[in-house]
Amino acid sequence: MSDSTQAVKENQLVDRFGRTINYVRLSVTDRCDLRCVYCMPENMTFVPRAQLLTLEEMETVGRSFIALGVDKIRITGGEPLVRKNILQLFNNLGAIDELKDLTLTTNGTQLKKYAKQLKAAGVTRINISLDTLRADRFHEMTRVGELKRTLDGIDAAIACDFGQIKLNSVVLKNYNHDEILDLVKFVIDRGIDISFIEEMPLGENTHHDRAKTYYSSDEILEDLRQHYEILPSTMRTAGPTRYFQLGEHENTRIGFISPHSHNFCESCNRVRVTAEGRLLLCLGQEHSVDLRHVIRANPGDRTALDQAIIKSMEIKPKGHDFNLNSQTILLRHMNMTGG
Ligand code: GTP
Ligand code: 5AD
Ligand code: SF4
Repeated sequence: MSDSTQAVKENQLVDRFGRTINYVRLSVTDRCDLRCVYCMPENMTFVPRAQLLTLEEMETVGRSFIALGVDKIRITGGEPLVRKNILQLFNNLGAIDELKDLTLTTNGTQLKKYAKQLKAAGVTRINISLDTLRADRFHEMTRVGELKRTLDGIDAAIACDFGQIKLNSVVLKNYNHDEILDLVKFVIDRGIDISFIEEMPLGENTHHDRAKTYYSSDEILEDLRQHYEILPSTMRTAGPTRYFQLGEHENTRIGFISPHSHNFCESCNRVRVTAEGRLLLCLGQEHSVDLRHVIRANPGDRTALDQAIIKSMEIKPKGHDFNLNSQTILLRHMNMTGG
């Protein structure tokens, strides 16, 4: 083992609760070409571009985390692929040997244009958001979107043979809960995976009452059990998804992200960085460190950034306390956090 590898081992990020942090979610923009009703308000105000980290600064943040033992980076947004010159970041991070997993969460609208180049850059896996297969509902749930664009994007990604393609469906009662079987058939037909997600209370939502639209992962499992044999799967990614296998359909896994019904904070291994360079230690809490300030105060010197990241482990909270009925909610919307 080389000296530098040894240093990385010694420097592994560990928080107060003994959790090793080896996964970073890097949001590259809060902007998006869609306006999903659970994610942001229709008239969302976005961060002025001058306040965003540059792509070079994001790469520096990525390099610091990798030097500190992180081996998985997921690029998120907003919609990452609407950020100008974004391939530069994928290409540069993808060339770093120590990074085992470079992944992307996207709404799929730009994938027809980018899928091949992302694969060439070294992206290992892609998660694509899709809540409905009905064009009118898609337009209603995204407020502006055209279903065909996302479907074309999914096809383009499948054609590129990524290690894993997973759909993300946020399930809302009386909006799309009646499409669970259709979505499962869609992924079985294509040999890809799907995660069903319980909506998280991030940012004020005047569109619907989150307590009333709550549809739990267990209800979805029950719906599926009427039609499929459901077996626990041994598959794990570094994220919070619990996977199940569907009878004989061995190319498809069904996942559940259940922040309300099956809390997963105990095994948390990740932190996220917002597009403005705020290191958030938990999706559901406000504890954060301003990395943009550290980078800009120490040009050309990564030591201060490394130290700030190591120190941040002292304030990583034990977990979120999401409560769908509470009046106190986090002010941040999901697009500002990157999930
Ligand atoms: P992998 O990390 O590769 O397993 O992917 P993932 O499914 O975790 O990531 P993706 O970006 O597709 O996010 C899917 C959902 O998981 C989103 O709704 C995220 O907000 C949610 N999620 C990811 N990490 C966390 C977390 O630490 N806490 C909570 N509450 N939700 C999370
Ligand atoms: N709760 C749960 N998931 C959400 N997403 C966006 N907003 C929310 C929310 N409030 C999902 C998107 C995307 C992923 C990054 O997060 O559907 O798949
Ligand atoms: Fe855009 Fe994703 Fe938010 Fe939908 S969930 S508005 S696609 S960032």
